[in-house]
Amino acid sequence: MSNSTNSTHSTNPYNSAVHDAGSGADIALRVNGVEHALTVEARVTLLDALRERLGLWGTKKGCDQGQCGACTVHVDGRRVLACLMPACQAAGREITTVEGLAARDGTLHPVQAAFLKHDGLQCGYCTPGQIMSAVACIREGHAGSDADVREFMSGNLCRCGAYPNIVAAVREAAAVEAAREEAPRGDTAPERAADHAHL
Ligand code: FES
Ligand code: FES
Repeated sequence: MSNSTNSTHSTNPYNSAVHDAGSGADIALRVNGVEHALTVEARVTLLDALRERLGLWGTKKGCDQGQCGACTVHVDGRRVLACLMPACQAAGREITTVEGLAARDGTLHPVQAAFLKHDGLQCGYCTPGQIMSAVACIREGHAGSDADVREFMSGNLCRCGAYPNIVAAVREAAAVEAAREEAPRGDTAPERAADHAHL
C-alpha cells in the first residue's frame, strides 16, 4: 500500500486559498504516519489543509484565531494550534491528529477512553482539541493535580462547561499512563496508529 496520496479537491467553495493552489508551493505533510503531497498557497493554515484537503475533520475549527484550542494537534510531539500554523511550516514534520491516537486495532488511547468513562464532553465540538491537549499535558508531566490540569489545559475552551469531567478524565488517563510506564515490558497497551510511520 502506498503511503503517499495526492491532493484532492474539497467541495467547500469559501476558502480559495485552500482550493485554488495554482501558485502555491508543493509540500509533503506527514499526518498520522502517512505522507500526503499537496500544493498550497503560503496563507493556507495547517487546519485548513487537514480539513479541506485531507478530509481529516476530527480537528475542529472554532475561533480560527488561536483563542479556543479546538484545532489542537501535535507537531513533532508538541501541541500546536493548527489554525495559527501555516501548512508550509508543518511540511516534513510529524503531525498527529485525533484520528491517529487510537491503536491500529481500534483500541482507544487511554485519554479517549477516560473521556468516555467520565463523560468529558457534551456537544463534543471541543473534544478532539481537549483530547490532543490532554495527551500532551500528560506527556509534559503537567497532570499531577487538578490545578495543574486546569492550568495547562486552560487554552482549551469548552462552551458546554464540561470542565470538571474533563479534569477527572485527564487525571485518570495520567494514572493509567503512569501505571503503564511502570509495567514490565510486554504488558503495555497495543501500539498506537500514529507510532506506525510506514503503513
Ligand atoms: Fe484554532 Fe480556535 S480554531 S484556536
Ligand atoms: Fe461542547 Fe466542549 S463539549 S464545547
